[in-house]
Amino acid sequence: MFLPPKGTGGAAYIELFSGPGRSLVEGAGYFIDGSPLVAFKAAQLSGTKFSELHFNDLDSENIDALRQRIAQLGGAAQFYNEAASTAVDRITYALNPTGLHFAFLDPYNLESLPFSIIQKLATLSRMDMLIHVSIFDLQRNLRRYLNERRVLDSFMPGWHDAVDVNRGDQAVRTALLRHWLGLIKGLGTTPADGIELVSATGGQRLYWLVFVSAHPLGRKLWNDISNVNNQGRLL
Ligand SMILES: C[S@@+](CC[C@H](N)C(=O)[O-])C[C@H]1O[C@@H](n2cnc3c(N)ncnc32)[C@H](O)[C@@H]1O
Repeated sequence: MFLPPKGTGGAAYIELFSGPGRSLVEGAGYFIDGSPLVAFKAAQLSGTKFSELHFNDLDSENIDALRQRIAQLGGAAQFYNEAASTAVDRITYALNPTGLHFAFLDPYNLESLPFSIIQKLATLSRMDMLIHVSIFDLQRNLRRYLNERRVLDSFMPGWHDAVDVNRGDQAVRTALLRHWLGLIKGLGTTPADGIELVSATGGQRLYWLVFVSAHPLGRKLWNDISNVNNQGRLL
């Protein structure tokens, strides 16, 4: 519908924290494809390529390595080497506002994902987002974040009035994530009902994978395909 010959809006794939295109499996000593290559190869295999690829990483070595890997696969992409908070402006400006786009956001920590990034991506009416949120960061730094406020003010504005910080750590974390999801809902997008839990080997709870879609069909699709066990659900 969005790709020629049926449509011209385009279908872009966007990563604001792309990494170098491969990652070392800790302990195993071998490399696997990073998310940009996984997405690129999957699209190629499906026979429906993205019309555009936009990759950003703050680390110039990462972006140079990714540029080479995409070129080796015969691909072409736009590369950016800056903070995600500014790259998002250039990328949203470059996107066709009538296209169907997909952004994968995979920061190391909450600090590098100010809410303004999600807000800006959501200005495009058909922007689906998959967001990988580091719960490990929130677990490890919860009390510091609550005291200093700066990181949470940027990640989830308004949290201080919405969350009772005198409760236990687990309850506070859940309340914070509920607040964040509420902010996303407030943008007119629909976070999927369930949130997928991604745990590292060893079973620690490290990440939540949150799918956000401006379109109810996107959310239905995610709810159908995500294999969520009860423990993995936040809400
Ligand atoms: C978790 S890794 C991404 C891994 C990638 N998704 C993969 O599958 O290989 C996060 C990346 O964000 C980059 N980064 C850190 N802070 C950033 C920021 N403020 N803006 C953009 N990129 C940033 C890091 O250099 C790192 O490559």
